[in-house]
Amino acid sequence: MPTQRTSIHGQWSSRLAFIFAATGSAVGLGNIWKFPYMTGENGGGAFVLVYLVCVAMIGVPIMMSEVMLGRRGRQSPINTMRTLAEEEGYSRLWGLLGWMGVLAGFLILSYYSVIAGWALAYVFRTAGGVFNGATAEGVDAVFTELISDPERLLAWHTIFMAAGLELAVRLLMPALFVLLILLVGYAMSQGHFLEGVRFLFEPDFSKLSGQAVLMAMGQAFFSLSLGMGAIMIYGSYLPREASIARTSITVAVSDTLVAVIAGLAIFPIVFAHGLPPTQGPGLIFKTLPIAFGHMPGGALFGSLFFVLLVFAAWTSAISLIEPAVAWLVENHGFTRVHATVSAGAVIWTIGLGTIFSFSTWSGPEYTLFGKTFFDLVDFLTANIMLPLGGLLIAVFAAWLMSERSASDELAMGDGPGYRIWYFLVRYVTPVGVVFVFLNVIGLL
Ligand code: PHE
Repeated sequence: MPTQRTSIHGQWSSRLAFIFAATGSAVGLGNIWKFPYMTGENGGGAFVLVYLVCVAMIGVPIMMSEVMLGRRGRQSPINTMRTLAEEEGYSRLWGLLGWMGVLAGFLILSYYSVIAGWALAYVFRTAGGVFNGATAEGVDAVFTELISDPERLLAWHTIFMAAGLELAVRLLMPALFVLLILLVGYAMSQGHFLEGVRFLFEPDFSKLSGQAVLMAMGQAFFSLSLGMGAIMIYGSYLPREASIARTSITVAVSDTLVAVIAGLAIFPIVFAHGLPPTQGPGLIFKTLPIAFGHMPGGALFGSLFFVLLVFAAWTSAISLIEPAVAWLVENHGFTRVHATVSAGAVIWTIGLGTIFSFSTWSGPEYTLFGKTFFDLVDFLTANIMLPLGGLLIAVFAAWLMSERSASDELAMGDGPGYRIWYFLVRYVTPVGVVFVFLNVIGLL
């Protein structure tokens, strides 16, 4: 009986434990580091609007599907997809979807760890008062010096990959949220707040290219941890009684709130100091220290902020590696520690490519189509692999899986909630993803 499967890895103690874990996975560098600079590079309001539409219309239904498949399969995504496909009379090759997720997780974590390393380096710089009274040029110099020093980046990347502790998400997440609100308060009093708000929420569709739409969709998948099995594996530990719809919506709303608040904290500072919003991955590292350098108690709040950012990244990192770890434990009898260390070593090595992307390998001889190693890995994962994974998950959940299995697992009866989910996953998600892909290759 499929409904009675249990996970060999255990189960969350409650629905709330799942919400904390899934929010821990979703909220991370994607919200605080990536969302602001992507918004800055893609023209602001219109990008944000497409992002929000993608979260609601594609993200939430895909999240529900992933949790649903995970809880029904109760194994690593590779084995879950194999088992469920066989059960429904389809090919075991669906396990490849799990494999793509493992690969995407490795690639994402390889650069994620490097950026988390930057945040870690900033903990000490902020605590040591490096940014006290700092100007935009001063902060820029500190950042540029950091990223052009591969040896130093290597040390921080290594420390992040090796740190093995799992701290209470329950305390750290709310603390990060409070500090973000504090930063918004600073931005309101000292920054060009209205300009920031307008940039974020006044859509200018003339700035919205097909490429920007792809980026917005990719950002929705990335920020919600969708399309690679992270939420699926977390779903496999979800107790049978928990409501999948309510938990998914809670996670998606919290994640989106954190990203928007990060934007509200950062853009007013960007405009107040005449900085370009288009400067890319360095954006938060060049703007937030200015705020911390000028507010009372800035060294304390600033270092606390970067500590919490590192923990937010850490809880996301765990979910990025978990599909591979669960598979190594299930199929090869590894212990969790052994599995994590082995996968971590591979990921650490790939991460070297990102470290060099910001210094020695930034020149034209090391770039492909004008993209550095980091740019390529980021583009391939967030904009191709995650949406493609999401598309396949939608096709499986709403076209291949029998409606009986799906509705049994979602346990929403045949009410409007179920009908909306079914419509979105069956039509809106696949058509949306395919449309955006075709548009970018220029076929539409
Ligand atoms: N959602 C995480 C973030 O926003 C990143 C992530 C992507 C985690 C995919 C797991 C899977 O930082």
